[in-house]
Parts: sequence; structure tokens; C-alpha cells
Amino acid sequence: VEELVDLVGLERLRSLELGYGSVQGSIALRRAVGAACGTPAEHVLTTQGTALALFLLAFEVCGPDSDIVLATPCFPPARETLQACGSRVRTVPLSFDAGYQLDPGRVSAVLGPATQLVSIASPQNPSRVRVANDAIHELLRLMRKRAPRALLFIDETYREATYGDDPIPISAASIDARIVTGGSVSKAQGAPGLRVGWLTIADAALRERLTVAKMNVTISGSPLDEALATAILQHGDRILAPRRRMLAEALAITRSWLDSEHRRIEWVAPEAGALCCMRLRSDMFDDAAVNRFWGALEPHALQLAPGDWFGEESRVLRLGFGFLEPDRLPAALGAVSRALNSL
Ligand SMILES: Cc1ncc(COP(=O)(O)O)c(C=O)c1O
Repeated sequence: VEELVDLVGLERLRSLELGYGSVQGSIALRRAVGAACGTPAEHVLTTQGTALALFLLAFEVCGPDSDIVLATPCFPPARETLQACGSRVRTVPLSFDAGYQLDPGRVSAVLGPATQLVSIASPQNPSRVRVANDAIHELLRLMRKRAPRALLFIDETYREATYGDDPIPISAASIDARIVTGGSVSKAQGAPGLRVGWLTIADAALRERLTVAKMNVTISGSPLDEALATAILQHGDRILAPRRRMLAEALAITRSWLDSEHRRIEWVAPEAGALCCMRLRSDMFDDAAVNRFWGALEPHALQLAPGDWFGEESRVLRLGFGFLEPDRLPAALGAVSRALNSL
């Protein structure tokens, strides 16, 4: 908050009125999102986090018995919002062994004329692997042939969370009118408590339906949160650069620990964000040892997410390397090694 108050200026914040905001989101925020995503401000609908974006899209596009295609593993609400709306969800499991690369041909195999939505994330959660632009273009081509009514939703919540000086890939928002993207200031910008996110929707009729749905659920976003989020986006690199540097440092520490553990652990290197997927090698740990591993973590006060939480096998783990300050990370990783030793 201190950082943001300095950016916005206390006087400006003091003069803000706390009436309802506009349903679409403040025009300043929509312009800032539009500039970041390469899309007109009119295409942007702000939401309370990408979380609300997922819900609104599921609620509005995916009624009972609609056919939806979802790449997994995924952020659990990406699946649960669809299921809660009664959709038939056909999953396309991406595999650790294939480095969580999305194969458009495999998605195509479950597409049909009744498919209403294809839902993917880039970078994905939990793997933080991106879907390459070529794959998105190929997916659109296949959708045109096999599922002409379908929209392609791309959750871009981690798009800007790149490492150090790595370039930030452009948003898919402007690639094709059938693409809807979602994003927020929660991850790369480190401000999940603001609860500010967005959808970009090129199709005017769909945008209108989603706007009405948002109004019925929340009336509007908070003008205070939106003003702070606008400042975050307007000062893009000033906010992002220190966080990207810290992530790069933490990733380097994690990489060197994983190199030293390569006989016991394999991993898929992430392309963004503060998490990655690793797997306990099956030639070193049988299933019983994997079960014991979770108990062995307890005395070390470590929190790792088990793969079955996001639709993977339990020997896959999601490791967060961005939560601790980098100088505390080696000790935490060493504690994971000691938990493995105890098996
Ligand atoms: C892929 C993905 N989408 C959406 C969200 C929701 O985040 P928020 O609502 O804070 O934008 C998360 C949070 O972890 C996520 O991992």
C-alpha cells in the first residue's frame, strides 16, 4: 500500500469518492488493461480477480449440458466453475513427460460442433509452462473446422511474471475475435489483495452479456481498488522489474538445488511465475515412499502442493520458490532434501 500511495499520491486518494463504480470498470483502468493487452479499452470488462472472470464466463457461456474442453492440470476453480454450471467438461490432460506442452491435435480430438468453449491457461497453473503462439494459431484453425461455435478462453494471469530481463510475451487478446482472455494484478504485480482482474472480449454481444452478469453478481468493482490497480498498470516496469529480478534469483537457487537432486527429483522448468512442478523419481521412490513423504515434510513446516490437488499423480509436487525471500530459500529447499533422506 505504501508503494502504491506514493505512486498515486495521497491527495488523489483522499479525493476519491466511494460511490459504486462503473459496471464495466473505470475507463482509466480499462485503458491501462487495453494498453497492456494490445486491445481497445472498450473490449475490457474488469472483474474481481481472474477468479470472478472464470465464474462469469462459465455462468454466461457454459449452461447445463454444454460441451466444454479444458486442458489439465489446471487451477482448480477453472474446472469447478464449469462443473458448477452443469457443463460436460472434456479434459485434455497435459503430461509431465511431455513438459506440459499443449498439443492442438489432442485438443482437436475432443472438439465437436457442440463445443462452446475451449479453456486453457498460458502460462499454466501449476506448471507455469506457456502455450506457444503457433499452438494457439493451430488450435484456432482446428476449432474453425471442428467446433465453429466455440470460444477460446486463455487465462493469462501469469503472463507478465517473467524472469529478470526475459521479454514479456504479448497477450493473445488481439489475435482473434474468438479469443477471450483473463488476467489480473494478482501475480506478476504482486497485488492479489486488490482483487482486480479483467476479461478482454472482442465480441460485443458476449461482452454485453458478461457485463450484465457482472452487474448482477457484484454491481461494480471498488473504485479504490480500481484506482490503485490503474496506478500499478500505468507504472508497469517500475512495479514489475524488482519482482522479476527477485523471481530470477529464486529460480536460479531452485535450479541449482534441483541439479544437485537430479537423481531423486525431475522437474519441468517454468517459463513464468513463482511455482514449478517436480516429480519424485519412480526408480528411487515407490508409491509407499511417496505417501510417507507428505508426513516427512511436517516437522519442517514446509508447504508443497500434492499433484492430486490439481489433477496430477501424487508423486508430482508443486513447489513455490517466490514466497520466501531468496536468502531463506536454500534452507527451505535443504529441508525438502532432509525429508527425502528420511524416506
Ligand atoms: C491460473 C489462475 N487463474 C486465476 C487465478 C485467480 O487469481 P486472481 O483471482 O487473484 O486473479 C489463479 C490464482 O492462483 C490462477 O492460478
